[in-house]
Amino acid sequence: MKYIEERAKIVNEALNYYLPEKELELYKAARHLIKAGGKRLRPVIAIAITEAIGEDYRKIMPAIVALEAIHNFTLIHDDIMDRDEMRRNVKTVHTLFGEATAILAGDTLFAEAFNLLSKCDVPGENVKKALEVISNVCIMICEGQFMDISFENKMISEDKYLEMVKLKTGALIAGSSSIPAVLFGRDDLFEPLWDYGIFSGIGFQIHDDVLDLIGKDIGKDWGSDILKGKKTLIVIKAFELGVELKTFGKQKASLEELKKDVEKLKECGAIDYAQKKATEYIEMAKKKLSCLKDEKKRRGLEELTDFLVKRSK
Ligand code: IPE
Ligand code: IPE
Ligand code: MG
Ligand code: MG
Ligand code: MG
Repeated sequence: MKYIEERAKIVNEALNYYLPEKELELYKAARHLIKAGGKRLRPVIAIAITEAIGEDYRKIMPAIVALEAIHNFTLIHDDIMDRDEMRRNVKTVHTLFGEATAILAGDTLFAEAFNLLSKCDVPGENVKKALEVISNVCIMICEGQFMDISFENKMISEDKYLEMVKLKTGALIAGSSSIPAVLFGRDDLFEPLWDYGIFSGIGFQIHDDVLDLIGKDIGKDWGSDILKGKKTLIVIKAFELGVELKTFGKQKASLEELKKDVEKLKECGAIDYAQKKATEYIEMAKKKLSCLKDEKKRRGLEELTDFLVKRSK
C-alpha cells in the first residue's frame, strides 16, 4: 500500500539516523532485525495519527523511532521464548549471536527507546506523560508474553486468549496510536486513540495467528504456533469442536503431519472463525477514528486499519 510505503520510508531514514551502527558486536545484534526490514506499522500508525490531528510528526520523530525500537526489542526476546529461527526472512538474533547477546541486544534497544522518548521537541510535561504511558505499555507486553508462555501448558478460554493478545500486542499498537495525542497535549483524544490501538492490535494478532498457518513466505517459522502448543483462537475453537491435532506441542513433528493438521483446522471452520473475529475487531477500531475530524486523513487511516487483517505477511 502506497500510503504505508511512503511513511515507512520516512521511518527507515529516521531509524538510520537515531539508531546508528556502532563498532561493538552487541550493536550488530541489536540492529540485525531492524536492518532486515519489517512493515514498520507501529511508527507508521503514529505518523498517520499525527498528520490526522494536524501536527508536525518531525517534532516527535525520536518517539516514533522509539516505538520501532521497543517492537524490535520484544521480537528479539519473543524469538528466544518461542524457540524460533527465522524472522523477516533472516535468522533470528539468538540463532546468529547466541542467547546471551540476544538478551542484551533486546535490553539495549529497550533502553535506547526511553532515551529517544525523552528527546522530543514538545513541552516537558507532555514528554513526562509519554514516558509514563510507554513504560506502562512495556509492562503490559511483559504480562501478555508471560500469559502466552504459561498458556503453552494448559487449555484456556477465548476470553483469556483475548486478554493475552490485548496485552502482548494491543498495548504497543495502542501506545503508537495514542502517543501523538499525549505528546501534543491533546488529552481529549487519548482515550479513543488508545482504544483504537487496542482493538486494532487484537485484530492484528488474530490475523498473525492465521498467517502462521495459511501464510506463504511470511519470513518466519511456518506452523510454529502449533508445534509450540500455542493457544491461539484457532486451536481454542478447533478443540471446542472436538478436532484432534497430532502435531500440537510436538516440536519434532514432520512437515507432512503438520500440513495434515492445518488442513483439519481449515476444514473445521476454525480459521474462518478467527478471520471473522479479526475483522470484527478491525471494524470496532475504525469506529474509534470518528474522534478525528479531518475526513480525508481519516480515510487513509481506515485503509491502513483494514490492511492490518488483509496483509499477507
Ligand atoms: C510481529 O509483528 C509480532 C506480532 C505482534 C504479531 P509485525 O507483523 O508487525 O512484524 P514486522 O515488524 O512487520 O516484522
Ligand atoms: C507476538 O506474538 C509477539 C510479541 C508481542 C513480541 P507472536 O509470538 O505470535 O509473534 P511472531 O509470530 O513470533 O512474530
Ligand atoms: Mg513469536
Ligand atoms: Mg510469542
Ligand atoms: Mg505469531
